[in-house]
Amino acid sequence: MTNVETPSTAVASETVRVDLGTRAYDILVGPDLVARAGELLVARLGKARAAVVTDENVARHHLPALEASLAAVGRHAGTIVMPPGEATKCFAELGRLSEALLALKLERGDVIIALGGGVIGDLAGFAASILRRGIRFVQIPTSLLAQVDSSVGGKTGINTPQGKNLIGAFHQPSLVLADTDALTTLPPREMRSGYAEVAKYGLLGDAAFFAWLERHWQSVFGNDPAFLTEAIVVSVTAKARIVEHDETETGDRMLLNLGHTFGHALEAWAGYSSRLLHGEAIAIGMCQAARFSEHLGLCPAGTAARIESHLRTVGLPTRVAHIAGADRPEPQALFALMQQDKKVQGGRLTLILLRSIGDAFVTRDVDAAEVAAFLEREVKLPA
Ligand code: GLY
Repeated sequence: MTNVETPSTAVASETVRVDLGTRAYDILVGPDLVARAGELLVARLGKARAAVVTDENVARHHLPALEASLAAVGRHAGTIVMPPGEATKCFAELGRLSEALLALKLERGDVIIALGGGVIGDLAGFAASILRRGIRFVQIPTSLLAQVDSSVGGKTGINTPQGKNLIGAFHQPSLVLADTDALTTLPPREMRSGYAEVAKYGLLGDAAFFAWLERHWQSVFGNDPAFLTEAIVVSVTAKARIVEHDETETGDRMLLNLGHTFGHALEAWAGYSSRLLHGEAIAIGMCQAARFSEHLGLCPAGTAARIESHLRTVGLPTRVAHIAGADRPEPQALFALMQQDKKVQGGRLTLILLRSIGDAFVTRDVDAAEVAAFLEREVKLPA
């Protein structure tokens, strides 16, 4: 990472390169980037016109600054405002969006800007992958979750009744602008949810980063630009290095799913509702992966307690008992949901387990009966 961009504010933005040959791109992290998007686009992407895709909530906070910045360089082709929420990632809205983009007369050399969280990034990115057989797109993620995970790595797609993200494409962005100022308008619960993915990078490959988070989490949550930038830069650098080696997820990219096989089952059980946000499910799932690893004797005693202690300190749930509402999942139902995971191969579950904090590994060598028995204990674990 290098300090190459110097915005008007005191904290300089940092640049992380995702080195994917002809599909290489930069992730800029720091304050003031939405307001500078127009000049950055011209400098990096040439003569392109840009169509903005966003949602109603994000538009209220960030659209005027982005549109003004694009208009100032004469590159604003138009804006399409989608309804907010996960339900927007569907065929009907993809169709509506694609036709609206064509109506703006976007050409092959133009770009789509996805301004928003993971839903807008996934939907606009997928539209970019199919529009005129593929045009460039720029991610301007406005949630912490999108900044550290979904905006980087080129996974795009929509949901169907059969499951989440089952229709999609790998389509890398041409530029990512992770503006730390955008996070100041984020509700605290959304910020915590994104933080679960930040902590994930420490747990899966960087023990020193996890220890740094234990020391500095209050500065990160306090929106201190230097600490926030550092946390995001370390996270996206970790993701960039993994994606560079395994763009299409045939090996190490699966490490990014630490906590996700357990967590997705809980998320699906809770109906992908505000009862359990994605990052909250991942926080519980990472603790479950740690408890399961410890139970199997794969990592030292006390590993799970340390992880749980940090996630609890920042206000994240760490056990099934922490999920709001009175009803609890049946362990068999969770097990069935885990078996629908995209990483199941030949009927065998793929789990990401821990040897220690900072040392995760992918395994298919798990006994289904052990997992089922573990889930029985997990749903009974007191708060
Ligand atoms: N969110 C996991 C990945 O991008 O591979």
